[in-house]
Amino acid sequence: MKRKEKKDLEYNLIIKDIINSEEFQKRKNFSHHGKISVYDHSLSVSKKAYKIAKFFKLDYKSAAIAGLLHDFYEKPWQDDKTKYPFFKQHGFTHAQNALINSQKYYHEYLNETIENAILRHMFPLNIVPPKYKVGWIVTLSDKLVSMEVFKYPSMLLLLLGIKIR
Ligand SMILES: [Fe+2]
Ligand SMILES: [Fe+2]
Repeated sequence: MKRKEKKDLEYNLIIKDIINSEEFQKRKNFSHHGKISVYDHSLSVSKKAYKIAKFFKLDYKSAAIAGLLHDFYEKPWQDDKTKYPFFKQHGFTHAQNALINSQKYYHEYLNETIENAILRHMFPLNIVPPKYKVGWIVTLSDKLVSMEVFKYPSMLLLLLGIKIR
């Protein structure tokens, strides 16, 4: 087996139970930005975080799972028409919501590193930075993946989870 195939197999084994679960499959219908679903976005972040962590010989398993669950918040926010006060907007609140929701559905896959990475992934918008290197990798991967789809300056606030009306 080639090295890449071995890596893919290893990665798939880490994530398969979560991505195949009913609750995670629902993220295919959550819009992240534009045509990209939360499912696709989370998978991209997970893959990138896994690769970077592996490169630096860090805990790549936690990186892959944290990447997958970093945006695992409860409800699709783009269709939510409620007008929230600025600091109650999605960008500021969804990391904590994603952590609570991950604990609800995937408790057995979590550890302290993963939980902290999920909770702190919106640094610097949320001012407390990640505690562990894996958390920094997830934060960075999230930004890199989001920037790849960032085509217009007006999308920046949306990327951050803020709606101006
Ligand atoms: Fe996020
Ligand atoms: Fe994200």
